[in-house]
Amino acid sequence: MERKTYTALGFLLLGTFLYFNWISSGSDGRFRIRIPIPWLQPKMGFVGRNGTHFVEVEDGTPVYVNGWNSYWLISSKLEEVSEMFRRGRAMGMTVCRTWAFSDGGANGLQISPGRFNERLFQALDFVIYDARRSNIRLILCLVNNLNAFGGKAQYVRWAQAAGANVTSTDSFFSDPTIKHFYKDYVEKILSRKNSYSGVRYKDEPAIFAWELMNEPRCALNSSAPLLQAWIAEMASHIKSLDKKHMVTVGLEGFYGHGRTERVGANPGEWASSLGSDFIQNSADENIDFASVHAYPDSWIPKASFEEKVKYLSNWVDYHVNDSEHVLKKPVLFGEVGFHLEGKKNGSYDRDIILKLVYDKLYESAKKGEAGAGALIWQLMIEETQVYKDEFSLVASRHPSTYNLILQQSCRLRKLFRRKGKTKSNFWPCTDP
Ligand SMILES: *[C@@H]1O[C@H](CO)[C@@H](O)[C@H](O)[C@H]1NC(C)=O
Ligand SMILES: *[C@@H]1O[C@H](CO)[C@@H](O)[C@H](O)[C@H]1NC(C)=O
Ligand SMILES: *[C@@H]1O[C@H](CO)[C@@H](O)[C@H](O)[C@H]1NC(C)=O
Ligand SMILES: *[C@@H]1O[C@H](CO)[C@@H](O)[C@H](O)[C@H]1NC(C)=O
Ligand SMILES: *[C@@H]1O[C@H](CO)[C@@H](O)[C@H](O)[C@H]1NC(C)=O
Repeated sequence: MERKTYTALGFLLLGTFLYFNWISSGSDGRFRIRIPIPWLQPKMGFVGRNGTHFVEVEDGTPVYVNGWNSYWLISSKLEEVSEMFRRGRAMGMTVCRTWAFSDGGANGLQISPGRFNERLFQALDFVIYDARRSNIRLILCLVNNLNAFGGKAQYVRWAQAAGANVTSTDSFFSDPTIKHFYKDYVEKILSRKNSYSGVRYKDEPAIFAWELMNEPRCALNSSAPLLQAWIAEMASHIKSLDKKHMVTVGLEGFYGHGRTERVGANPGEWASSLGSDFIQNSADENIDFASVHAYPDSWIPKASFEEKVKYLSNWVDYHVNDSEHVLKKPVLFGEVGFHLEGKKNGSYDRDIILKLVYDKLYESAKKGEAGAGALIWQLMIEETQVYKDEFSLVASRHPSTYNLILQQSCRLRKLFRRKGKTKSNFWPCTDP
């Protein structure tokens, strides 16, 4: 045969291969090319930690985070995911925290223990794949303490159905059947080969960290040792399977009983009776960084705005100081939220709250200290309003908040900008 014929045949074969392997239609009916070949993915390094701060593993450059939460990504359409990443990136943000779980029911990611919904798994594949293309890293949370999307209560029901004698939701942290379910789930997630990129989750640099649980709490104060043992066992389990990624707990950050000199920083007496303790829980050797949330408005609803601000200021100081001097690990404010509903000048107040946290973390970054960043709870786009809550916002509709977020990204970035590094697409900061 002639050369031309070979070439034509080659193209035909390639076309057929592409058609069957790499092109798929999404839920929106649009065609997307999937090239599940790891080395064809955009170049990206891992983030790890060095002492009290995060670093680019490749060259040790410090990393301080400005980011956001959009818990709903796997439940929404592909183009909505891309749009959210595009907007996050346009505000200079680098990390997004989202749910890598949805437990129970035919529409859950995990339908029942060990049974997965492939359609939803592919949605998670896309979130991770698209994050990398958008130069965003993800904090992936593995289970909920609350009932939304199944949570620990779903695990308890599964265990009951399997014949385990479990009654309290606290048994989530100790029952062998439930621990087994959770470990299996983790294994399945870590070993998943992404259908869009061909990269296993445990090898994916676009994953910033694994989070054990969203806001672990116990029903009984006396379950505290169970929670502590669970954290140690599960963090060690993840590390045994995945040495590349960081692990955090997902705590709200309350100080437990026995921290007499610190309980004053808690939002109320109730906070020390939930079985968690910021210092002990975060101290485990397999926990790479501490996690804290901040909801002054929900935690002390009756206080005046000035009192809330004062409370928050103290809350941030305590956690940064404890992370710097006691834990000697970075601390990430994984959720910072402020209620807007029913408030006359809510946006203005929210900006004060957000700015306070941002300013303190910027000061920490300037000194190379443990206050490693904050993630606002939570950002939306117009099309995903079904997932809104009283804290959510479409940032572009709140220009002052939008600018605050952007400024924080840009000033953090300026501190550690490296010479000669090419700037990625969508980079919004103007460099001097
Ligand atoms: C960690 O940071 C210290 C001090 O900033 C530096 O001397 C050391 O080389 C860093 N280690 C790594 C592995 O980057
Ligand atoms: C189930 O556990 C409870 C408390 O742990 C115990 O009192 C009860 O006897 C157990 N029931 C069975 C059937 O084992
Ligand atoms: C919680 O448990 C601790 C000991 O683990 C105890 O000292 C404290 O009194 C308990 N608090 C409540 C409210 O039960
Ligand atoms: C910071 O923590 C250290 C160690 O616990 C403590 O000695 C120091 O007083 C704390 N500083 C502030 C300002 O709270
Ligand atoms: C909100 O409050 C601030 C400070 O009191 C004031 O300057 C601003 O004009 C108020 N904004 C609105 C929309 O009421």
